[in-house]
Amino acid sequence: MNLLMQCLTLLLSLQASACTACKFPAIINFGDSNSDTGGLFATFDRPSSSLYGETFFHMPSGRCSDGRLIIDFIAESFGLPYLSAYLDSLGTNFSHGANFATAGSTIMQQSVPLNKGGYSPFSLEVQLLQFSQFKSRSQMISRKFFESLMPKKDYFKEALYTIDIGQNDLTELFFSNQSADDYIPLTMKVFREVVKEIYQQGGQYFWIHNTGPLGCLAYALIRRPSSSPELDSVGCAVIFNKLAQKFNNMLNETVTQLRKSLPSATFIYVDVYSAKYNLFSNAEKYGFETPLRTCCGYGGGDYNFDLNVMCEDKRIVKACSYPEKSIVWDGIHYSEAANKWVFNEIATGKYSQPSLPLSQAC
Ligand SMILES: *[C@@H]1O[C@H](CO)[C@@H](O)[C@H](O)[C@H]1NC(C)=O
Ligand SMILES: *[C@@H]1O[C@H](CO)[C@@H](O)[C@H](O)[C@H]1NC(C)=O
Ligand SMILES: *[C@@H]1O[C@H](CO)[C@@H](O)[C@H](O)[C@H]1NC(C)=O
Repeated sequence: MNLLMQCLTLLLSLQASACTACKFPAIINFGDSNSDTGGLFATFDRPSSSLYGETFFHMPSGRCSDGRLIIDFIAESFGLPYLSAYLDSLGTNFSHGANFATAGSTIMQQSVPLNKGGYSPFSLEVQLLQFSQFKSRSQMISRKFFESLMPKKDYFKEALYTIDIGQNDLTELFFSNQSADDYIPLTMKVFREVVKEIYQQGGQYFWIHNTGPLGCLAYALIRRPSSSPELDSVGCAVIFNKLAQKFNNMLNETVTQLRKSLPSATFIYVDVYSAKYNLFSNAEKYGFETPLRTCCGYGGGDYNFDLNVMCEDKRIVKACSYPEKSIVWDGIHYSEAANKWVFNEIATGKYSQPSLPLSQAC
């Protein structure tokens, strides 16, 4: 349905103002590798292989994909530049937003560091601290110099705040044998507090992604526990997808609570899980092949994925010759083609609660 049609339909059912497109002057993003546009790369040189970026940026772009991420397509759709990573000190321009996401980020701060196979030190709470710093210091700096590199003061009220985090909390809780019923409520508490604080600092428009079908990704599939190896009809690991759905149900509840306690703000809960699962389930129909197979992976077989030889290892690993037909890029993350497909789906609003298209999320 095009915008005009949507407006007409809305006009019939609601008030006329409902169909005016929003003009977000900036996007401020929090999250993990699903939306990191270079934060971990600037800090820890990961992912550094130029295979990451081969489709679109033609150099290592700091994104965990061969090209653009959903957040890039969101920025494009509003005519805004791609988001600079807050942690990047080179060539950044924050005039239309900033990105606090880093690959490996979790909601809950973790004790196992990145170099021991753990997680990014920039958990959601740390990202919030960075945001607070950014908000106050960007205004100080902007008054003295660098005005054209900094957001205007009002942008913090007018911006779209996007959040996409949780996948790494799920892998951490699963592989450290913690109980989901204990762990997930703790993540929700942090999530709620962080969103409330962003709101206190002026944020009004929130676009919140739930977590995708973890059990369809090779890095989870190859580590199915022998006690529950079940696959569903698509070939995804049931145990991991159940875990993701459990997280998502609680996230949905949390967002519902936030909507009640902060009625002047707009909260859009986006069911990215269902969009991605739809893609895995109907891959051929949408122009994709071998949906569970890793494009930039190693070892062949159903998943072409080996935890010891990852896409990063350019000396050994070659990307497949058809990334535009692959859903899974490196066994953990999605290809640009998949990100673009998912963006086009979720932007319509049909996976959102309330079901507003992205262009009207204000
Ligand atoms: C930063 O980006 C904005 C928008 O793209 C542009 O107008 C501005 O000139 C840029 N600043 C610098 C110093 O390049
Ligand atoms: C979790 O449990 C499995 C199976 O009992 C065990 O092999 C594994 O070492 C445990 N992991 C941790 C981090 O305790
Ligand atoms: C989220 O919760 C609402 C109730 O608050 C429910 O109507 C909706 O179906 C849920 N959405 C998803 C995707 O589970």
